[in-house]
Amino acid sequence: MPARINPSILSADFVNFERDFGSIANADLIHVDVMDNNFVPNLTFGLPMVSRMQEITPRPLDVHLMISGVDKWARGYAEAGVFSVTFHAEAAENPVGIARELRSIGARAGLALKPGTDLEQYLDILHEFDQLLIMTVEPGFGGQALIEHTLGKVSQAKRKIDQEKLDIWLQVDGGIDETNIERVAKLGADTFVAGSAVFKAIDRAAQIEHLRNLANAAISHRH
Ligand code: DX5
Ligand code: ZN
Repeated sequence: MPARINPSILSADFVNFERDFGSIANADLIHVDVMDNNFVPNLTFGLPMVSRMQEITPRPLDVHLMISGVDKWARGYAEAGVFSVTFHAEAAENPVGIARELRSIGARAGLALKPGTDLEQYLDILHEFDQLLIMTVEPGFGGQALIEHTLGKVSQAKRKIDQEKLDIWLQVDGGIDETNIERVAKLGADTFVAGSAVFKAIDRAAQIEHLRNLANAAISHRH
């Protein structure tokens, strides 16, 4: 499976999203971080902004909800027509119910885990999801360093996916850059969120291409 690079617009210019979308036109998907200053100690934007982005985006939107109350709020993002909606297990009362609702509306459903949350308890519901997001930093801010111990969950998830032949993308988010993407790809990740590593580059499209090439080379050497 070829690697996907999803630039996170948390590192974009918040009053020039449309212009910045143009600078990442070769992204596989555009990662959109919704934060409510409750589930995480930071605030970005909500459904009205994401709906407008959906109207102008050149690439599919990969929405990452870092909000409380997802049992109520997640469906609106799917109704706006985004490609995927990922919510946090820690914020959900009924994760399977939300996943089924998202899929029935036509969005891909994603389950996200904070660094301190065990994967074990969710292994048996992974088949209800289209993507699993292992947070490799504490959610809330861009530009943090990858937390090494989170990578154990990437290997653990990859084993489960292979054993059960699950049709699910394995995504990592936080601190991914050109120094570590090959290592993380080798462990099993196939979908890489990169915020600062893309937006700090002078040529963002070239940086996306570079990250994708590094990940693809590592994936082809996995076995
Ligand atoms: C963090 C967000 C990430 C963030 C990643 O809570 O979920 O998507 O933008 O940024 P970098 O790649 O800079 O760590
Ligand atoms: Zn994110």
